Amino acid sequence: MTGYRLRIAILIISTVVCLGFAGAVGYSLLFRPDVYEVPIGGPFELMDSKGKTVTEASFEGRYMLIYFGYTYCPDVCPTRLLEMTHALEALEEVSPERAAKVVPVFISLDPERDTPQVIADYVTHFHPAMVGLTGSTAQLDAVMKAYRGYYRKVEPEEGEDPESYLVDHTSYVFLMGEKGQYVTHFPSTADAEDIGKSLVALID
Ligand code: NI
Repeated sequence: MTGYRLRIAILIISTVVCLGFAGAVGYSLLFRPDVYEVPIGGPFELMDSKGKTVTEASFEGRYMLIYFGYTYCPDVCPTRLLEMTHALEALEEVSPERAAKVVPVFISLDPERDTPQVIADYVTHFHPAMVGLTGSTAQLDAVMKAYRGYYRKVEPEEGEDPESYLVDHTSYVFLMGEKGQYVTHFPSTADAEDIGKSLVALID
């Protein structure tokens, strides 16, 4: 092998080694999301329907089925909360013991109108175990950031009733585990039957 051919051979081998290494790093980044992704959920501080402070520790040992919304929501929120209710009823039919481990949680993103009492009355329309929470703007901002969602008050147009505003918000349902860890979430395309089947499969 001449010097020239040797240099070409070394160049080819080192290129192959480099590409292989880059591929391995890329593969590990793509297929190890547990290592590289920011987790969903985590510690929070909110207020229950009696005005008492609650944290993630208040729910330790139970699963949380969480939905964020507001009681004045004209359609999406009541639909999602009914779906959560029916999904939990599906698990109750299979196993009341397992269903009792799940707390359905409604978190209002509209503390201006949704006082603890308004929320307490609202949740009675849904599952009897449903817990209604809210918090200060700072507390809600923090919990929404932790759940990677968003919400935004839509200011009413001029001439509209200032009390009749809407709140834009993420409408995912989250399932959190017995230690507060993220288990899964259900996008708005998942209906009561889908969520119910997942609960039957995931709650032990
Ligand atoms: Ni809504």
